[in-house]
Amino acid sequence: MKISIVGSGYVGIVTGIGFTELGNEVIFIDTDKAKINAINNQEPPIYEKGLEELMMKNRDKYYATDDYSEAIDKSDITFICVATPSNENGSINLAYIKSAAKEIGKTLKNKSDFHVIVVKSTVVPRTTEEVVKPLIENESRKKAFEDFGLAMNPEFLREGNAIEDFFSPDRIVLGVKDDRTKSIFEELYVQFSCPKLITDIKTAEMIKYASNAFLATKISFANEIGNICKKLGINAYEVFKGVGLDHRINPAFFRAGIGFGGSCFPKDVKALIAKAEEVGENPKIMRAVVEVNDRQPLKMLELLKKHIPNLKGKRIGILGLAFKPDTDDIRESRAIPIVERLIEEGAKIIAYDPKAMDNFRKLFPQIEYTSSAENVLNADAVLVVTEWDEFEELDYTEKVVIDGRMIERARKAAIYEGVCW
Ligand code: UDX
Repeated sequence: MKISIVGSGYVGIVTGIGFTELGNEVIFIDTDKAKINAINNQEPPIYEKGLEELMMKNRDKYYATDDYSEAIDKSDITFICVATPSNENGSINLAYIKSAAKEIGKTLKNKSDFHVIVVKSTVVPRTTEEVVKPLIENESRKKAFEDFGLAMNPEFLREGNAIEDFFSPDRIVLGVKDDRTKSIFEELYVQFSCPKLITDIKTAEMIKYASNAFLATKISFANEIGNICKKLGINAYEVFKGVGLDHRINPAFFRAGIGFGGSCFPKDVKALIAKAEEVGENPKIMRAVVEVNDRQPLKMLELLKKHIPNLKGKRIGILGLAFKPDTDDIRESRAIPIVERLIEEGAKIIAYDPKAMDNFRKLFPQIEYTSSAENVLNADAVLVVTEWDEFEELDYTEKVVIDGRMIERARKAAIYEGVCW
């Protein structure tokens, strides 16, 4: 099939390159010249495990351009994969979605063949039908579901595992209305053997939010129970092993610690809260999820001050800055509030992360960075913020360690405090 992809960020590039591996031809549309050049030189515009190899292997099956009309003319189906960031108040910012919809509409005006537009970006329920559809219809002077197809197909890609998640998803959710689009989808996803759930468009949008909100809830719940465990001298990891054995609950995504970060969970939960309020609902559980998550990293400071009450002038080591291992992404990383608070208290910080130091330095140029994890141990106390594998190799004996992520080896430290264990 001939596919065009608007937005070559992490969802767009992984989806597009994944489709080339399945035998399709893909044209990426982006406004960023640097990204276009990178893609046309077979260089990944973002870091993602396995992507570079797939880009090399399929180099004859894709290219990038900033020309919407060329890309849409030469393709049968267009995926919108642009970012949907947060506004100040947590609600979703649809600026990129709107501009993509308008550009697509302008081009569709001159195309006679049936073309399908698919929203893959995470958008709050009803956005596809109430925002994207009228914009395309106005610009193209055509009718959705008759002259062109419109659908919603959420992504469930984890950073660092995105390629694997593309090829082996738990499920594919297709929000469709017209039969023509439905059969094009069936053909596009024919190689996938996972369950394929066909719903209406707004249900597909909600499935994405409800999934992320539930996973975020699972983590905040684990942390709330974990905080109680800590006070009672119980290891939350053992508790959740026992809890997860109930097949109705499932053991995955139950790691207590210092909470969730990244580009999706914090933003998506807040966007759903804002949407709920807009329709007159009071989403108490999701508000509590955010509140627990905001407080959780500060538990590390409480535990640290038990051992070093006055942090002024003390050398504090930070192991890990990325929001999770195997990425250089620091968006909403739990390291950010921790470092902010340590700076406020006058501590001297020395930090190490195998991939995320360059990004972190842009936010916090004033702290010291070091090229090895061992150097961080040379401090009055060490805080483990991200569970990189290499932190299991360090010798923590004689040290004061506050562990936010359960590093087994660190438990041998002279003074050891786990956040929820
Ligand atoms: C997430 C979803 O998993 C994915 O399906 C969605 O489409 C995008 O958002 P991602 O943000 O890449 O993916 O990371 P994920 O691996 O889900 O972790 C998110 C955060 O939760 C990380 O900060 C991680 O440290 C934290 N986490 C995860 C926990 O604290 N405990 C857990 O048990 C699992």
